[in-house]
Amino acid sequence: MAKILAFAGSARAHSVNKKLVHAVAGLVRDAGGEVTEIDLRDFPMPLYDGDLEEAEGAPESADRLYAIMKAHDGFLIACPEYNSSITPLLKNTIDWLSRPREGEPRLGAFAGKTAALMAASPGGLGGLRGLVHVRAILGNIGVHVIPEQLALGTAHKAFAEDGTLSDNSGAQRAADLASCLVRTAGKLGE
Ligand SMILES: Cc1cc2nc3c(=O)[nH]c(=O)nc-3n(C[C@H](O)[C@H](O)[C@H](O)COP(=O)(O)O)c2cc1C
Repeated sequence: MAKILAFAGSARAHSVNKKLVHAVAGLVRDAGGEVTEIDLRDFPMPLYDGDLEEAEGAPESADRLYAIMKAHDGFLIACPEYNSSITPLLKNTIDWLSRPREGEPRLGAFAGKTAALMAASPGGLGGLRGLVHVRAILGNIGVHVIPEQLALGTAHKAFAEDGTLSDNSGAQRAADLASCLVRTAGKLGE
């Protein structure tokens, strides 16, 4: 069974991207995947600084997250678009996690993993432009990012009371993405 780690590139309590992660995590389970949902709020890291790294090493939260990422076959990520790009929270997390670790393979948290990307925004494009950058960054550190993705526009109106996606086409696209992620991560993780 494919083990998927699900998280958002926003720490905000009322984040629509966290809501999207939660909704689609349920669909990943429906598709036969095993999902661990985490909140990057629980993995605080200072802004990456080479001098800090040299003096103190990686933050304890990066060590914890590294172990969790290594134990999964794939990632389900919903990242908000900030000025047409990735959020500093997600980029900083990737930067710390991409650093070499003694006794560990190069890019051990990322290389060979499978990822499905999503974004949610109150705007009409749903964060589509930011995903171009997230895709490129992850691809360049060895992640197989599946071609399918979900950019959910008008996201503040997209969820039902129970947290599921209320819009029919959004719900179907999310279910398709979830099953594609489970299928691909299952095959590549064999
Ligand atoms: C610094 C900043 C830049 C933003 N830039 C964009 C943008 O380029 N495109 C967009 O659709 N929304 C943009 N937004 C609005 C976010 O999509 C919106 O705040 C969204 O709710 C953030 O995601 P979250 O709810 O998961 O925290 C921006 C928000 C911030 C704070």
